Amino acid sequence: MNVLEPLDITCWKGPFAPEILAKAVDALEGGRVMYAPQLHFELSAAEGRFLSPECLDGKSKNISYRPDSGALRGTSCQGSHRDLLLSMLQRYHNRASELVKALCPGYGDHLQSGFTSFRPAEVAGRGTSWRQDDTRLHVDAFPSRPMQGIRILRVFTNVNPHTPRTWRVGEPFEQVAAKYLPDIRPPFPGSSSLLLLFRVVKARRTEYDHFMLGIHDRMKADQAYQSRFAQNEVAFPPGATWACFTDWVSHAAMSGQFAFEQTFYLPVAAMHDPQRSPLRVLERLSGHALV
Ligand code: SIN
Ligand code: FE
Repeated sequence: MNVLEPLDITCWKGPFAPEILAKAVDALEGGRVMYAPQLHFELSAAEGRFLSPECLDGKSKNISYRPDSGALRGTSCQGSHRDLLLSMLQRYHNRASELVKALCPGYGDHLQSGFTSFRPAEVAGRGTSWRQDDTRLHVDAFPSRPMQGIRILRVFTNVNPHTPRTWRVGEPFEQVAAKYLPDIRPPFPGSSSLLLLFRVVKARRTEYDHFMLGIHDRMKADQAYQSRFAQNEVAFPPGATWACFTDWVSHAAMSGQFAFEQTFYLPVAAMHDPQRSPLRVLERLSGHALV
């Protein structure tokens, strides 16, 4: 399977031809990466200053903006530099929202914006624990943020003027799930209430979340599995934009610096084909409802 679905588009807002819309939804829901090499996110001359890890606060690996509250985190910038940084992230949020709404009109009002992030640190050689190491193939699942079956759709743009951002892409979710699910024991009774009580999680960790975290961890810890896909590298050149459901496409970011990312959440019911969701796949494999 070719993991990239190239789209010949140059504007964020559309309107796009019906063939483009059909291609985009089929690629996304089919577990491929929608790839628009000519869809650029231009930075102003003043914003060029942010192409440096200096704008990070020294603790965070990304600068994040929360569209719902307006909060900006992860930066040491102050005053007018901070305002400029904030407006750059807000602009990326607007562009990415326009793109997804124009390409996937069926998702429409069901889409919710998550964080917008700017990633000014080099990905390669960053020392972290294996569980946080995104250079290992994984599907996205977060310990403190239960998704309860809701999909994670992410849009990325490489704004590095010179170097690509490289990923590895693994096998389809059905295969990943069939491989790891049998080894994951169900959560012990009452654990989801305890996690909520002690504020480990922001919402109830459902059985779905338990299994997704289990798959995430087992994939990352499995060295043999990681080396099996060592060759599956894709390079996103300077200026390129791409998007995929990162809870479905197994991915690893291998190298690159200076990228934007916008997260969207989408209820399974709003998908064109809800059967192509990790929730429905895991429910089929386990034989019962997971949320
Ligand atoms: C990830 O989602 O694992 C990281 C992707 C990236 O930063 O390119
Ligand atoms: Fe990821």
